[in-house]
Formats: sequence, C-alpha cells, structure tokens
Amino acid sequence: MTLKPGVIGDTKAGRAACSAVVGLQWGDEGKGKFVDLLAAEHDAVVRYNGGANAGHSVVVRGERYSLHLVPSGILYPGKMAVIGNGVVVDPWKLVEELDGLTKRGVDVSGLSCSSRAHVVLAYHKMEDALREDLLKKRMGEAGAGAATDIGTTRRGIGPAYADKAQRAGAVRMGDLLRPEALEEKVGLAVAMKGPALAALAKTLGAPSEPLSAPDLIRGAREIGQRLAPMIKDTTHLLHDLLGAGKRVLFEGANGSLLDVDHGTYPYVTGSTCISAGIGSGTGVPASRVGRILGIMKAYSTRVGAGPFPTELKDAIGDGIRQRGREFGTTTGRPRRVGWLDLVAVKYSVMINGATGVALTMLDVLAGMDEIKVCTGYRINGQVTNRFCPDAFELSRIEPVFVTLPGFKEDISKARKLTDLPTNARRYVDSIVENIGVPADLVSVGPDREQTIEGKA
Ligand code: IMP
Repeated sequence: MTLKPGVIGDTKAGRAACSAVVGLQWGDEGKGKFVDLLAAEHDAVVRYNGGANAGHSVVVRGERYSLHLVPSGILYPGKMAVIGNGVVVDPWKLVEELDGLTKRGVDVSGLSCSSRAHVVLAYHKMEDALREDLLKKRMGEAGAGAATDIGTTRRGIGPAYADKAQRAGAVRMGDLLRPEALEEKVGLAVAMKGPALAALAKTLGAPSEPLSAPDLIRGAREIGQRLAPMIKDTTHLLHDLLGAGKRVLFEGANGSLLDVDHGTYPYVTGSTCISAGIGSGTGVPASRVGRILGIMKAYSTRVGAGPFPTELKDAIGDGIRQRGREFGTTTGRPRRVGWLDLVAVKYSVMINGATGVALTMLDVLAGMDEIKVCTGYRINGQVTNRFCPDAFELSRIEPVFVTLPGFKEDISKARKLTDLPTNARRYVDSIVENIGVPADLVSVGPDREQTIEGKA
C-alpha cells in the first residue's frame, strides 16, 4: 500500500518524533499490521517489553510473517529495528527467527539489541513450566475455588523478569560477551535454582535433568558470539537518532490488560505493556511520544486463564474463532472469544493516553444478525462503566450489553468509511462515542491494503 503522506504517521499537532502502537485488550489485537504500516514513516522500530511470548503477524504482498522477538519494522528495507532493555531475550529464539527471515530474503542487518536486556535461559523455561504444572496439580486436588494456572506461554518470561528484579545471578545480553561475568552469574543461578527445580520436578513426578553450569555457560558464550555485532547501548543509539531528527516508532507487545501492574493480575504477563513501559524499557522518556495508537479488535479474545466478562462459550464464539483464525501465533492454542468489552477498552485508552485507535478484524463480524457490545458492569446491583482490573472482582461482575444490528455484506474490499454498510459504520461510531478518542484507522483484512482511514 502506498500511503498518502500524512495519513498514517501524523497527529493533528504535527509530525511527532515518536509514535507508539499498543494493544488495548489481552494481546492479539492485530498490532503487527499497524506497526508495519506506521513503520513506513519512521526510521526505527523499537520493542520495549515482553519477549518471545509475543506473536506479531504481518502480511506483506500476500506473504505472512510471524515475528516473536524481532520488531515488525524489520520487514522494511533500510529501517532500523531495536530490541530495548525492557525486553527479555531468548537468544536462541532470536537467532532462529533471524535465520528464518534471512532465508526468506529479509535483510536483518538493521537490528540492534540492548546490552542491558535480560536473557531468558533454559532454567527460566523449566521454572515457568514446573510452576504452571504445580498450579494445575493443586487446582486438580483442591477443586473449584483454587488458584488456576496462568496459562503462560511457558517461554520463561515471568521467571526472567523475576530474576531481573531479584538481581543475583541475572544475565544480561552484554554478559554473553564477558566470560567471567557469565561464569559468575550462571554459576550463582544454578546454585540457587538447581535444588529447588529438582525438588519441584520430583513433587510433580516430572523428569528432571540436573542443571549443568558449564554446559549453560558454553551455550550462552556461543550464542553471544553469534549475536555480538548487534549487542549495544541502544539508549544512546535512540537518543542519537532523535537528535539527528529521525522518527522512532515503539511497538508494544502483549496487551494492556496483561500489564503486570494495570492488567488483570495475577493473570498477566511479567512486563509493562502499556505506553509507560517505553520510558523504562528503552530510556526514551514516554513524554516524547506524540502519538499513541491503541489497537483494538472488533470483539475480544484472551489466551490462557483469567476473568473474561464477555466470553462466548457457544456457537457464536466458535464462529468468530474460525472466521478470525483465533489460534495463538506463539503457542497455537485456540483463543477464548467474546463480545467487545468497551468498559475494558476505555480503561486501556485511559491508562495508555491513547490519542486514537485502530479497529481491527471488523470483517470477521460480517454475516451476524446482531452484535453485542458491553458498555457497563453490574456489581452488587449497581452499574458502572469503570473497569476493575482486580481478577477476583472482575470474575464476579455481570456485563451489561447493548445490542446493535449486524451487517451481512463482505466488507474486506472496503477502502473508505463510505464503502462500509450502514450497520458496520454504526458499530464503529458507537465504539468511538464510548471510548472518547477517534478511530484513526479501520482494518478489514490482514493485508496492508485492507485499511480504511477513519474520520479526522
Ligand atoms: P507469559 O507472558 O508467557 O508469562 O503468559 C502470561 C499470560 O499472558 C498468559 O495468559 C498468556 O497466554 C498471555 N500472553 C502473553 N503474551 C501474549 C500475547 O502476545 N498475546 C496474547 N496473550 C499473551
């Protein structure tokens, strides 16, 4: 798609030096497509949170790319792609992804990774999986009412962030290039974690291999050598770019409702997914970001456990899942599906400071007689439009729905708002009225071309 200058990257206030794309729901909102579109007007694309738990799908000229760690901007020749210090990096997954892209002819030489990003090692993944299995076992034993497993991606994300906060033995990307630091840190981590992991595996009757510090150190050194040219101080790199008048796009991973502080804790990921994470996750103050585009799907999905007030456990939900291909990019798990929750989206717009939204997957709702949207929560007989991120409370609310007429027409070829059937436009308008920020863009299919510019 050749974008008209000014359509995608500009704010009313002018051309912002920095823009951000953030997910307003529980992830999988279709961020990859918009990062890819906005990348056209930026010089660098930067990841600030999460790790290989994320899965961004981008379709370019009919070819689908699934990215997990590499910023989606890599698909534009000549753009810089940066993995900030707030990301937890599984270096083996990163190399696998880079090799896959190179094989498909993508130039990956523009990638830099912060030397201060923390490394996900094999024991983080073991810990993640064992803890999840333990929660499952306890739930099985205690029955209803017990804490459930989180349903993590088992990519070691939570344990890697926990080690970062805990400090002793935590390995950063720069350490992969310093043999003494690596020996000291991995040695300490193995001494601390080895016995605990072995005991946990025994409790669960799971097979366990003892952790070998020398093997872990050797593997980490080897992968470090492979990635050495891209490991650097990305904070100064980004400030140098901004100083030279370049434009930077920040790519949020996961989703606002999975944010470790502001999401539906404990059913969240380990990082700051909202725009506030840009400052801590890259060293560029979030105040420099002029445009924050929130990505929201025309319905809701969630992978893993946790409260989901508008969930559809029926044929309507199954139909949306099939038409929307709602199966995880990272784990392949079927996603839970529900009606659009505007109480939740409005909250996410608020905590991100979103300047506008991109509405995705509207085409998936075609063919339905009616469409429901949740505009309030009933709690103890009272209706509120305030989201409650506390998982315990959220699991007890009753959603209040408004029913809107559906639309039958295939809208995947619509390219202007006026191409949309009246009821589809009415749906978009009612979303905008509720959330209080404009729909800058509406997406009616995965391709770059299947994008409608919203009302200014
Ligand atoms: P973790 O990030 O692997 O620790 O998983 C924590 C929770 O976040 C689980 O419910 C995951 O399914 C969910 N999650 C993490 N990343 C994503 C994502 O990119 N999309 C959707 N769900 C995610």
